[in-house]
Amino acid sequence: MSGDVTRYKQQAAEFAVDKWIRSGMVVGLGHGSTASWALRRIAAKLQSGELKDILGIAASSTVEQEARSLGIPLTTLDEHPVIDVTIDGADEFDANCNLIKGGGGALLREKIIAQASRAEVIVADYEKYSPVIGTRWPVPIEVTPFGYLTQFSFLESLGGSGQVRMQGDQQYQTDGCNLIIDWRFGPIENPHELSGQIIARPGILEHGMFIDMVTEIIYAGPDGLKHLTSHGIGQER
Ligand code: A5P
Repeated sequence: MSGDVTRYKQQAAEFAVDKWIRSGMVVGLGHGSTASWALRRIAAKLQSGELKDILGIAASSTVEQEARSLGIPLTTLDEHPVIDVTIDGADEFDANCNLIKGGGGALLREKIIAQASRAEVIVADYEKYSPVIGTRWPVPIEVTPFGYLTQFSFLESLGGSGQVRMQGDQQYQTDGCNLIIDWRFGPIENPHELSGQIIARPGILEHGMFIDMVTEIIYAGPDGLKHLTSHGIGQER
């Protein structure tokens, strides 16, 4: 990854923390290299006293470990079923704030956290922007290990191709002990319809399309920081 892209991720994540996170909030902590910058910003502000009484809810076991090591107090959705603000990353987003997520494998927990959040703020670098989701990135689909091979003919009937995600020579396992099939549909013109078809299938637990779930996207690039909402794009800096 180029140094510029890393810097853009950092800028977007730190801006989002400064704009949305206030003392006393329950905060959803997303997974990935961009959301990780938000974690570090929150930790630094807790340490300096600029933020107080934050409770985090981690989107993955990796984030949980990172938050603990940074000293961010954690809670659970059982104790706090409503999250004030979640800051998370994305793999691909379009102008309608629809996303593909799950490149890091945390899509199921990320989606549960997003649906529990009053505000879901996505932070990204400008290279994640796409005119139509699916153009650049496969849709990660979380499936039960039981009978997972039977999902392939079903997915083929919807179009596209894909494979089970691997980690070295082993199948990648999610925090829920499931598998991921990364499926390339190509540009997805009707994500609502496709989502409905995928979700109706027994053995498929979730997919990585986030449709109508996101209120704000902050993305950074050579032209500065942009703020995308379902109403359009604005310049932040
Ligand atoms: C994790 O499962 C994903 O949804 C991440 O949020 C996404 O892959 C973005 O990751 P980066 O911020 O590392 O690009």
